[in-house]
Amino acid sequence: MNLKIAVLSGDGIGPEVVLQTKKALYAIGVVFDHEFVFEDALIGAVAIEKTGKPLPDQTLNLCLNTDAVLFGTVGDLKQDGNSNTHLSPIQGLLKLRQALGLYANIRPIKPYNDLLDLSPLKRKIIEDTDFVIFREISGGSYFSEKKINEQGTLASDLCEYSDEEIIRITHLAFRTAQKRRKKVTLVDKASILETSRLWRKIVKEISENYPDVAVDFIYVDNAAMQIIINPKQFDVILTENLFGDILSDEASVITGAIGLLPSASLGNSSALFEPIHGSFPEAKRKNIANPIASILSAAMLLDHFGLQEESRRVYEAVEKAIEFNVVTADLNPYSKFGTNEVGDFISNYILSKDDLYFK
Ligand code: IPM
Ligand code: MN
Repeated sequence: MNLKIAVLSGDGIGPEVVLQTKKALYAIGVVFDHEFVFEDALIGAVAIEKTGKPLPDQTLNLCLNTDAVLFGTVGDLKQDGNSNTHLSPIQGLLKLRQALGLYANIRPIKPYNDLLDLSPLKRKIIEDTDFVIFREISGGSYFSEKKINEQGTLASDLCEYSDEEIIRITHLAFRTAQKRRKKVTLVDKASILETSRLWRKIVKEISENYPDVAVDFIYVDNAAMQIIINPKQFDVILTENLFGDILSDEASVITGAIGLLPSASLGNSSALFEPIHGSFPEAKRKNIANPIASILSAAMLLDHFGLQEESRRVYEAVEKAIEFNVVTADLNPYSKFGTNEVGDFISNYILSKDDLYFK
């Protein structure tokens, strides 16, 4: 297979983790005879520095004319959380999601047996947890009207959802559940929010087309608690933009480290793959960032293009790195390995799995 992949490494640790991912994909190409053509482009703070814009037109055009986008991270130390300016690095990511029509952000949560003790949660609670969050990322309060009065004393963020926005991701969530443990849980706040009541109505209607899938509705406050006290109950969690943002960081606690979690963002004709963690600027160029979240986002990319065996091989290489303790310090404080060494191990494993050395 021939795939053109736009590579947007971005800021902070983005470039170094994405480099490891390119190495892993290159290895997959060699072993399975695929050609992956990478094209680099600017996004985030580095793009602002060089072009004055967080998402330069050239980057957007490349992303609109490519098979997939491999995304690193955006944001730098100058950011102060006050980022509703067109010049903030994270606007690069938000604009890109919008321009590519990405609407479903998919975040799998599954702890590794070798890392169960890394989580502050009890082993018996988290082992065998395996769920996936379908977070809507094109609507809600992220993109609806934002206002602040002239005096700067009154602000509002509208939260708007159309039926179409809800329908498309709901079908995707149900189709995924059919291939898994056949359960969809809608997380909302239907006791308070009109948008949540619309979500519930539509999800109920659509669920009738999937009689083999059980459907459950829970309020977001309860969901935040259930994820910690009984995460095994979930299979596919479906939710709106802001709830999904919050719950997915919370769910990362189950795996013990946010540096392990990949995500895929899908639209009708675009697909973007990125780690769920941020740019961790303090760690930049120190060779300490965990590359696994980014490498696994490439595994999701392969899976998306129907390359299941290839994807499996990437997961297996990551599992071996964890099993042999070739991991960064977030997973083992005594580790002598850094970003590069973990990346080397993973790409070498992909290349030479069948060698005796690894048996
Ligand atoms: C995420 C991030 C983004 C979000 C930011 C960087 C805009 O937190 O992907 O979860 O809130 O969607
Ligand atoms: Mn987030």
